[in-house]
This record gives sequence, C-alpha cells and structure tokens, in this order.
Amino acid sequence: MTRTFNLAISIAAAALTMTSASYAADRELARNKVEMMCANCHGVDGIATLPGAANLAGQQDEYLRGQLKAYRSGARKDPVMGVVAKTLSDEDIVNLAAWYSGLKVTVEMPSQ
Ligand code: HEC
Repeated sequence: MTRTFNLAISIAAAALTMTSASYAADRELARNKVEMMCANCHGVDGIATLPGAANLAGQQDEYLRGQLKAYRSGARKDPVMGVVAKTLSDEDIVNLAAWYSGLKVTVEMPSQ
C-alpha cells in the first residue's frame, strides 16, 4: 500500500536571499568553495546528488555552522564529512552556511 504525496519543492537557485543583517559572508568565495568542495554531493543549489547526502538548500544558518563544526571536531562522526570538514576554516564555515541557508526554498504541502 503506498500513499502518494504530491510534495513539490522548487528551488530558486539563483534567488539568493540575505537571511540576516549580520550576514558577513562573502558570496563569491562561498560559491567557489561550494563548487570545488561540496557540489558533487550536495549540489550548488543545495539539492543532494547522492542518496546518502542531505539537501542543504534553505537549511538554518546556525544549524549548518553547528554541524560543520561538529564534523570538524569529531563530535559528529561521518567518514566523508569528517575529512571534508577538517579542511574548513571558521571563515569557510560562515561562508558555506550562508550560501546554503541563503538559497530560497518553496515547499508545497500535499493535497489530501
Ligand atoms: C563526497 C560527498 C560529500 C561531499 C564532497 C560533501 N558532503 Fe556533506 N555530506 C555528505 C554525506 C554522505 C552526509 C551525511 C553524513 C551523515 O550521515 O552524518 C553529509 C552531511 C552534511 C551535512 C549535515 C546535514 C544535516 O542535515 O545534518 C552538512 C551541513 C554538510 N554535509 C555540508 C557539506 C559542505 C558545506 C560540503 C563542502 C565543504 C560538503 N558537505 C561536502 C557527503 C558529502
């Protein structure tokens, strides 16, 4: 028995929104880093390209920063993200979290 939900998520990848007044991230640096280090698995648009990787588009800035720091310190363990996060500076983490949290996501609830 399957119940079908029409869950449509559309991403306006180009429509970046600044999420807070204290946004100090460098968008150009962030995009370069995302393309080099994250896009293969999480997409530049934050939609995961691997079944085991998370969608990051529109995720909370604070949550993203927290998770990246946890991978970096080893408090959160994952063989892939542990290696990736070890190379990130605090500034990289601010930039990357700002990039992914700044992607605008629209969610459509399933109709009954
Ligand atoms: C080779 C694939 C790969 C690359 C490259 C990669 N990730 Fe990941 N990422 C994953 C996987 C797999 C997970 C799920 C790990 C887990 O279960 O903890 C993950 C999890 C995460 C999470 C936690 C998501 C959540 O919902 O808690 C964040 C944040 C994240 N990645 C950010 C990044 C950033 C930023 C980069 C680039 C600097 C990056 N990742 C590069 C594969 C990748």
